[in-house]
Amino acid sequence: MLAIGINYSQMHDSSACIVRDGELLFAIAEERISRVKHDAGFPYNAIRACLEFAKAKPAELDDVCFGWQPPGPFFLHDLKCFATRRMPLSYLNLLNSTRYFLSVRHQGGGAKRFTQRFGPTRARMRFVDHHLAHALSAYAYSGFEEAAVVVMDGRGAWEASSIWRGRGGRLEHILTIPWPNSLGLFYAEFTRYLGFQKYSDEWKLMGLAPYGRPGVNLREFIHPEESPPWVNVRLLGESASGSSSGIAALLGPERVPESEINDRHKDIAYAVQEACETAMMSLVRQAIKMTGCRDLCLAGGVALNSKANGKIAASGFVERIFIQPAAADDGAALGAALAPYLDDNGCVPNRAMRHVYLGPSFDDAAVESALKTYKIRYTRTDDPAKAAAELLVRGKILGWFQGRMEFGPRALGSRSILADPRDPEMNAKVNQAVKFREWWRPFAPSILAEKACEYLESAADSPFMILTAHVRPEKRGVIPAVTHVDGSARPQTVEKETNPLYWRLIDEFGKRTGVYVLLNTSFNLRGEAIVHTPTDAVRTFFSSGMDVLVIGTFLVEK
Ligand SMILES: [Fe+2]
Repeated sequence: MLAIGINYSQMHDSSACIVRDGELLFAIAEERISRVKHDAGFPYNAIRACLEFAKAKPAELDDVCFGWQPPGPFFLHDLKCFATRRMPLSYLNLLNSTRYFLSVRHQGGGAKRFTQRFGPTRARMRFVDHHLAHALSAYAYSGFEEAAVVVMDGRGAWEASSIWRGRGGRLEHILTIPWPNSLGLFYAEFTRYLGFQKYSDEWKLMGLAPYGRPGVNLREFIHPEESPPWVNVRLLGESASGSSSGIAALLGPERVPESEINDRHKDIAYAVQEACETAMMSLVRQAIKMTGCRDLCLAGGVALNSKANGKIAASGFVERIFIQPAAADDGAALGAALAPYLDDNGCVPNRAMRHVYLGPSFDDAAVESALKTYKIRYTRTDDPAKAAAELLVRGKILGWFQGRMEFGPRALGSRSILADPRDPEMNAKVNQAVKFREWWRPFAPSILAEKACEYLESAADSPFMILTAHVRPEKRGVIPAVTHVDGSARPQTVEKETNPLYWRLIDEFGKRTGVYVLLNTSFNLRGEAIVHTPTDAVRTFFSSGMDVLVIGTFLVEK
């Protein structure tokens, strides 16, 4: 059985994956190929890459699975919300809903686009409920026989959060909290109020939060401790002019983008993050109570809140936790592709996901061709791990391009920028020379899995950098460049089995320094997608202050 999973909502993060006989072969977000960050267009390039990897023709597909249902329920729910005044009825809101409905309907939810580009196929076109796709993307890759599954995102068709029970390869729907009572919306609206991009810059708010102090009262906007948490969308909604007028009326004027961050902004960020953590915890407790399961799976964009995830993992309420690493909508494709297995009372295959190296790789011939095209001088090494470790010890900032590209928002040792975490100035150096990003956003550590407990207080199994842990007080001065202001870090625990080359690089660095940790950030510039091809890597390398590029067995130095 061969199935393509697609995320295409026209909103953000289009993606595709291909699954053969229940095994996930390949997955990629459209943005990596198109180079348009959060690309919302139809994922033609991603689908083509999936087919090429599987050496399959469109005509051979059994199922084409979209991670969204047809637009009818979406539109009807919006109308109902306007009519019952659960959502402010404005000209802009109504226009947006109607326009979205007509556009999606016109394209047959994406099916027409698929056949127009890839030709006729005998495949069944399926439209999977968005939250079911998210729930499958968590449960079916967790390896847990039985689990409480919580989905939290901006919105599905009519869902904002949902609770499921996974058991024996099937998912039972337990509860839906309808849009607009949405945690994702709450966080996104405050992200915009603080002068960042709504629905893509939530990281910035999360990074800023530890700099604030308690004291800002958000009771008018959210009751996070309720079951389920209550969000006051009437105050949070966008005004006709696109401003956050409801928040501004109570908390003062919104921050002008790129203007200075003051203490008020920091304190608001603190309160928003704290409310989000409490609300996520309330939902998780509710899910555990309703399902009777203490193994927990999370998905949906809100589940990218690594700080909240760390608290949930350490709370004692849950036994084991699996958070889909591509928790946002790109990952909905992974769940959608497995939906056909639920037909006729069937079960989804449930295999524990231990890595996300699901994208394309490029051999040395492809790398050399790119380097020659640009007439770039290079040397070669028969041991990239050792060569890179030696450079890192000398304080060099490295571009590291190896193996199959990661799927999801994180670079995990395939398309990474690496540096020495022992240097207290390294955070600023990487920021100023390479990433050009906000001073308050922390960098994350990659730690050998075997050594994690030496550096972290709660050495959680954390292969995906999706939950935070506290750095041991005695180690905070050892790895200052990857320790956040509140003593936390967002670790990747690196296993030898899943990425032997990257594991060996950290090991070689450790043998030379006694520190088995690297600073790891994604290989991209501010506002750009993570590099995909060797050409992207070369361009990014020469557009930044990186010192050395280690790409396959090639070394390029400036
Ligand atoms: Fe979603």
